Amino acid sequence: MSIELKKALYNISALADLGQAITSESVFQQKIQSVFYVITGAFLANKGAILSYDKSANRLNTLTQKGFSPADMDRVDPEKLMSLGKNEPCLIGDDPVLSVAGAEILAPLWVRDEFIGVLLLSGKLTGGPYTEEDLELLNVIAHQIAVALNNHSLFIDLSDKLEENRRLYEEMRHIYHGTLQAFAAAIDAKDAYTQNHSYRVAKYSAAIARELGWNEHDIEGMYVAGYLHDVGKLAISNELLNKVTPFTPEERAEIRKHSTTSHNITSKITFPWKNVQDMVWHHHERLDGHGYPEALAKESLSDGVRILSLADSFDAMTSQRPYRKKMDVQSALAELKKCLESQFDNKIMLVFCRVLEKEIRGELPAPDILPHLDRNSDLSVISSMLEAIIQELSAP
Ligand SMILES: [Fe+2]
Ligand SMILES: [Fe+2]
Repeated sequence: MSIELKKALYNISALADLGQAITSESVFQQKIQSVFYVITGAFLANKGAILSYDKSANRLNTLTQKGFSPADMDRVDPEKLMSLGKNEPCLIGDDPVLSVAGAEILAPLWVRDEFIGVLLLSGKLTGGPYTEEDLELLNVIAHQIAVALNNHSLFIDLSDKLEENRRLYEEMRHIYHGTLQAFAAAIDAKDAYTQNHSYRVAKYSAAIARELGWNEHDIEGMYVAGYLHDVGKLAISNELLNKVTPFTPEERAEIRKHSTTSHNITSKITFPWKNVQDMVWHHHERLDGHGYPEALAKESLSDGVRILSLADSFDAMTSQRPYRKKMDVQSALAELKKCLESQFDNKIMLVFCRVLEKEIRGELPAPDILPHLDRNSDLSVISSMLEAIIQELSAP
């Protein structure tokens, strides 16, 4: 092989290595164009084309070309090309079918058993015919070009599939959230006093999970558990839920069934998030093992359960209930603190206080807790209380 050919081969090899960096249609077009210029330059061809094969339409599409007319390109028959040797360049001579396009040499491009397209060249600038040496060079690069074309079509397929999946996922999320909102509205509508309770618990829980450093997927699962934690209350009568006088032991037992009912309902749903059912089921469990419905030991309570338990209690305390007035934020924080170790988790309390403190200081762009608190709250008092709790709980 002559030095010129070796040099040309080196250039073509470098350019034809499209495998890794094809990130978009336009990048691919630029690269294939550069490869094409180098090839026509190396072969001194004043006419040339690279066509890719579209399997579904059984036709060849022109990726790039010079010197041919569009009609020439339309006449190239993919069936005929497929009958030739894989990646083996050949002189067209006076073949009645292949000479129609006016090309002098071609290389059918294949990757394994897949026909990818064809490279056509014609009109040697020196005026002479193409030689065996030309075919030899073309032979070396044909496979590289085939791989590059194939990678590109795989890339396009993959992008289409990813786009389709992303769209389906978005649709599914949309449906989920719509259904959840309908559920939550149904729960909250039953009980005039707990309006938007599920929504707020979802918000507070997700805010804590985010501060804990959870990933977006798990935060969304936490949010969903917050939305659904009281879904079992749908099975409790309105009279009982809205009762103003204290509950009898039987009534209390009836109310307490709601977390198991929430679990039974959510167990019938296949969620894309793990542990939603567990969080919903155990949101009334306690660290000291005196919670319900299973009186679980603290080792069995996941962080999600601990978050939901605290968020639920905080919202219950700061909301009006049929049987008692709502507490102010300071009293609710004091109550949570009093119940640390026995009912609530230190770490979760610390994180909850940190988020609220950040929200009060305006450090979070979209606050989740603050907008739902009593507007008459004295934020400076709450803030110094939060600082004291944070300091105490952060101490080693
Ligand atoms: Fe509950
Ligand atoms: Fe609740």
